[in-house]
Amino acid sequence: MTVGGGGSAVAGGPAPHIPVLGRPAVDFLNVHDGGTYIDGTFGAGGYTRLMLEAADCKVIGIDRDQAAIALGAGLVEAAHGRLTLIEDRFSRLDAIARDCGVDVADGVVLDVGVSSMQLDTAERGFSFRHDGPLDMRMGGAGAGAADVVNSASERDLADIIFLLGEERRSRAIARAIVRARTEAPVTTTRALADIAASVVRSRPGDIHPATRTFQALRIFVNDELGELATALAASERILKPGGRLVVVSFHSLEDRLVKSFLAGRSETRSGSRHAPEVERPAPTFRLLTKRPRIADDDEVARNPRAHSAKLRAAERSDAPARGGEPAALLPRLPALADVLKGR
Ligand SMILES: C[S@@+](CC[C@H](N)C(=O)[O-])C[C@H]1O[C@@H](n2cnc3c(N)ncnc32)[C@H](O)[C@@H]1O
Repeated sequence: MTVGGGGSAVAGGPAPHIPVLGRPAVDFLNVHDGGTYIDGTFGAGGYTRLMLEAADCKVIGIDRDQAAIALGAGLVEAAHGRLTLIEDRFSRLDAIARDCGVDVADGVVLDVGVSSMQLDTAERGFSFRHDGPLDMRMGGAGAGAADVVNSASERDLADIIFLLGEERRSRAIARAIVRARTEAPVTTTRALADIAASVVRSRPGDIHPATRTFQALRIFVNDELGELATALAASERILKPGGRLVVVSFHSLEDRLVKSFLAGRSETRSGSRHAPEVERPAPTFRLLTKRPRIADDDEVARNPRAHSAKLRAAERSDAPARGGEPAALLPRLPALADVLKGR
């Protein structure tokens, strides 16, 4: 397509998911002509659209959800060779880019979590607001939430709900799930929501009592924190010096992970004035956001999903990537395979 391209030139139909913090994310990416950018969470293509409109650049869009990739076909066509869409996990973003013939990228953006399309499709089983099969898988493969709920030991269930949902009543919910499944397997979102609601007290104005339980299972089933940790390390490997990393997250576990990763990678000296100065590897990133950027009141009014969003951005230095996955930043959880065995 011709340089830059106007909005309409790359508008592949209406977007069912309203992008959150899209404009600041693309501004932090510093999108420029000739650049190559990786959108690790293509979703409804909101960020990718903005990038394609911002400059005559190329975008590799990744999503593990086959439905998101299929929906992007119109945008691929409208972008005339500037957009490649790949159905895969963003933890592999450096390998994916290399498979596309891209050895270094100018920017990586991750807008993590679920899309409105996923939440609003009852059959995907993400939401306690719609009754559907208890699935919650973003991609098609692997175990779903019902497999976990019906196989896990009470202790594993409690740990998952506590660590990934930050739910204080995790032990009582796990006990109630185990009690319920002795009668019949828990196979629907409604059944799980009712179990959580039977145990978690809520007052008017509180979030739905099943919110944290659903969040925990979704994160566990999709290994969302492991994916994010691995993707941060992969971004460090693929970004060129001066390249930008931008991450938008929606809950504290993700934001804490991004914050700790970037703090560690941008640190130049030992943490304490009193501790002996230790030799540290050169920082691989320079922070662009000392505090996370959040949505302004206008955006939250237009799109309530934006209220919990936090954006962090950093610029890659020319120091070599440190290698390894920042696994130390992850909560200690049982492995999915062990959980499914019921131990
Ligand atoms: C919040 S939406 C992104 C919305 C997008 N920025 C937009 O403006 O339309 C998150 C998307 O990331 C995808 N996703 C989440 N985790 C992923 C992972 N580990 N690998 C690839 N895609 C993932 C989800 O399937 C979902 O489509």
